[in-house]
Amino acid sequence: MTASYPNTRLRRTRATGWSRSMHRENILTPSDLIWPLFVTSGKGVEDPIATLPGVSRWSVDRIGERAKEAVSLGIPVIAIFPNTPADKRSEGGEEAHNPDNLTCRAIKAVKDACGDDLGILTDVALDPYTTHGQDGLLDANGYVTNDDSVAMLVDQALNQVEAGCDIIGPSDMMDGRVHAIRMALEMGGHHNTQIMSYAAKYASAFYGPFRDAVGSGGALKGDKKTYQMDPANGDEALREVEMDLAEGADSVMVKPGLAYLDIVRRVHERFAVPTFAYQVSGEYAMIEAAVAAGAGDRDALVLETLMAFKRAGASGVLTYHAAHAARLLNG
Ligand code: PBG
Repeated sequence: MTASYPNTRLRRTRATGWSRSMHRENILTPSDLIWPLFVTSGKGVEDPIATLPGVSRWSVDRIGERAKEAVSLGIPVIAIFPNTPADKRSEGGEEAHNPDNLTCRAIKAVKDACGDDLGILTDVALDPYTTHGQDGLLDANGYVTNDDSVAMLVDQALNQVEAGCDIIGPSDMMDGRVHAIRMALEMGGHHNTQIMSYAAKYASAFYGPFRDAVGSGGALKGDKKTYQMDPANGDEALREVEMDLAEGADSVMVKPGLAYLDIVRRVHERFAVPTFAYQVSGEYAMIEAAVAAGAGDRDALVLETLMAFKRAGASGVLTYHAAHAARLLNG
């Protein structure tokens, strides 16, 4: 196809609002959004997170309100992350198996509030429960073991499913964990529990505010580079996705978001499977810092970045701006 001026003037179709609307290639709606929510202990608590201005931790008795808000805004799924009290954290992260832990209580509160009107995604990784802040178990040398960690993660996943969660989100990046969780779900009769695997998750500097939010940042010694991916790698992300799909993932995730849109695009084109992107805490904080500095308009920045994910081929986006974006989209 050749186009030449003036037969073709690309500004023709941009000249009016109706025409721009008619030629728009992608659309963003509240149903594209997944809203991550932090839960904390106590009653009647809203605890603002300093590094995530505008985002709070909510006590379990108040999480139902947020869940109802999500439903009323047309957001289909929330993701739950716990800030485990310090005295319940341990070397082995055993609190992850407690049927009465913050995550399980929050799942039940959300189901009580919204039933099947709202999906619940829960994170499988030990970092909110360990004193060392790593996602798995450490051996004597401080190395994060794989197979022993997977056994713990399977129990964590079953604990969440028994509390009523709909989608398991393994965010730990251990090898073989999707297979192990899928087998355990099938054997337990949980045939319709979905797995959204954090398949291409990078060892990123963009997770700082999240680690503050769940209280694992101060504890974390070292980094997560022996299990999370090297930001230099793209082909390897396709291998991660391919394996997680073969192991039983229903959908895959790329994380972080904006700096990894090339990966979203490649995964979507290669596999044509539901591909989600996580616009992570550091990305949210960057937008809010730009707004606070007078460097940009919040509403426009939020909608433009979220649309970029759709254009790259994402099926949906996890974002801390979900409620705000949904409000804007609903007019
Ligand atoms: C835990 C987990 C992390 C995030 C989601 N699940 C942090 C990490 O891997 O250290 C980050 C989310 C965000 O930054 O918004 N495994």
